[in-house]
Amino acid sequence: MTTIDVVTIFPAMIDAVLTEGVVGRARTRGLVDVTARDLRDFTTDKHRMVDDIPYGGGPGMVMKPEPLFRAVEAIAAERGAPDAVVLMTPQGRPLTHEEAARFSRMTRLVVLCGRYEGIDERVTDTLVTDEISIGDYVLTGGELPALVLIDAVVRLVPGVVGDESSVEGDSFVRGLLDHPHYTRPAVFRELAVPEVLIGGHHADIERWRARQRVTRTLARRPDLLSRVDESTLSADERRVLAQVLDEAKEHSS
Ligand code: ADE
Repeated sequence: MTTIDVVTIFPAMIDAVLTEGVVGRARTRGLVDVTARDLRDFTTDKHRMVDDIPYGGGPGMVMKPEPLFRAVEAIAAERGAPDAVVLMTPQGRPLTHEEAARFSRMTRLVVLCGRYEGIDERVTDTLVTDEISIGDYVLTGGELPALVLIDAVVRLVPGVVGDESSVEGDSFVRGLLDHPHYTRPAVFRELAVPEVLIGGHHADIERWRARQRVTRTLARRPDLLSRVDESTLSADERRVLAQVLDEAKEHSS
């Protein structure tokens, strides 16, 4: 079983989210064990202090090293040495599908939720194995980023998502965005579902969807297209991609 221990000053934030949905079900089915640990339980002073003023001055507070070290050591003693100790921080590498997949193959993960003013650098230097950011914006703490990471990781653990082909088809697995989806009714407030999807001609539907995936990616995320691994694309996608790139070249010349 995959165990994920989250060290935070707001354990209720973690518990509130991870009891719902696919992750909640994975936990009750015994596929993953996610435990929120209150950082204050690892303090030794009367006031259960987890932060202190920064050496060198400046605004804000810095998370103290002792409680974080004690927390990770207690978790390691209970579970065994972790495969990774991840710190959520805007200073980290961007979270990608590849990073999530790498963590999903591990058995023991510890996730530290920092606060944005920062944590003592000796923690990062000696305890943390991976610093991860969920995007170029600053949040008030690492709890929401930890939830994002855990959700992305847990759904890649085998058995968590019922239909494995739904995970393999994910946008960032193959480097293409998804095609549009429609359900009944066929006409909703005068808005019709594209004709091709109604006909039931599977080859035509797949060609249409392939074109949608490629043109959408080109329009919205051209950065993905330049990195796409052609060997993961279907014949339709490869053909449409070559065509669309040709057309784009003609327009620009
Ligand atoms: N903590 C605050 N902002 C963050 C971000 N963007 N990613 C990860 N951790 C954070």
